[in-house]
Amino acid sequence: MKLLIVVGARPNFMKAAPILKAIRQFNASQGEWFDPLVPILVHTGQHYDAQMSDAFFADLQMPQPDVFLGAGSGSHAAQTAEIMRRFEPVLAEQAPDALLVVGDVNSTLACALVAAKLSVETRPLIAHVEAGLRSFDRSMPEEINRILTDQISDLLFVSEASGIRNLRAEGIPDEQARFVGNTMIDSLREYESKADFSAALEHFRLKRGSYALLTLHRAANVDARDSFVEILEGLRELAGSIRIIFPAHPRTQKEIREQRLDVYFNQTSGGVGIEMVPPQGYLDFLCLMKHARLVATDSGGIQEETTALGVPCVTLRENTERPVTLEVGTNLLAGTKRESIRRAIQQQLAFRGDRRVPEKWDGMASARIVQILADRIMAKTPAVAGLPTSAAGLQKNA
Ligand code: UD1
Repeated sequence: MKLLIVVGARPNFMKAAPILKAIRQFNASQGEWFDPLVPILVHTGQHYDAQMSDAFFADLQMPQPDVFLGAGSGSHAAQTAEIMRRFEPVLAEQAPDALLVVGDVNSTLACALVAAKLSVETRPLIAHVEAGLRSFDRSMPEEINRILTDQISDLLFVSEASGIRNLRAEGIPDEQARFVGNTMIDSLREYESKADFSAALEHFRLKRGSYALLTLHRAANVDARDSFVEILEGLRELAGSIRIIFPAHPRTQKEIREQRLDVYFNQTSGGVGIEMVPPQGYLDFLCLMKHARLVATDSGGIQEETTALGVPCVTLRENTERPVTLEVGTNLLAGTKRESIRRAIQQQLAFRGDRRVPEKWDGMASARIVQILADRIMAKTPAVAGLPTSAAGLQKNA
């Protein structure tokens, strides 16, 4: 039974790694008669450099991709089209029983779309991990990717309860959606203690709980000078009281250079004094997050990770597709104007964190996903249909 798993961009790696591991564990738990699940890992190459990709494979102990498409960067249309063009022959050659796509990046939609257009005889089961999240903001490219990927997938693995409601509201039948939990949190739980051995705190000369961590990369925040400056000004007061460490995404570094915003990162010339550093690997970033006094971000995944870690988070956006992080977690929406950001930071600095964790964020999401996939593929495969499914003996929590 062949399962093709697609990764492409940085936030995909920590979502797919525990699924690959769960597949290995699932196969090992089956009897001799069992036709194992064979994972084929395809990397589209949307993110391609050492800091954005290779470091994550090493930290997450992921096997090297079976297929590397090398699609690279480009406009949304060019990148999506290039991934589709390169993925189509791979899908035809591999002919998997199921295709698994994760998250909301261009690679997610591109590969799901290629599979969805195959003939009924050759079309694999299409499964989307992290389905149903909605910001209700269609100016975000990721929102378009989410809506469309969910509409063309057969099996929708949902990470928080809002996802089930959103899919229902879009007319997707309930039996297609499964609330399984969050595979990104599976990775976090697995590597949380290992991250304490990271040298990141020493490297940046940081004491636990004494600094803030910042990430910014959304086009809406960094591509226009006015928006970017507004956010940096909103952080000025915080920078005056504690150190702000800012691992900058390549897109953000480029914008800083082009918009001549360097002054904000240079204390001696009257700037805000935010300390810009290179993008960090998974374990180093996890260590920095875990011990931060506060995290400020426009990322989706970091809102979830800080919730699981109980670290106060300020989200530099007007909306979030992850409302459970506001309801149960440690997240606060700050908006993108300097005054609202300043106020949100004040509020979060007074908040000491919370260890309440959303439902099913228990490190078992990947095991649930693999169990459901195996059941579905076996039900469809004539050669194995009718065999005793001791598979069903594993997790049945979904
Ligand atoms: C993508 C995802 C976004 C995710 C983010 C996390 C989409 C629509 N967006 O945005 O959801 O939160 O990744 O990182 O898929 N670049 C490099 N090296 C790399 C990769 C990119 O220098 O390894 C540069 C590119 O040249 C480009 C910029 O970064 O200038 C943007 O890369 P791209 O993959 O197009 O989108 P992201 O902004 O990273």
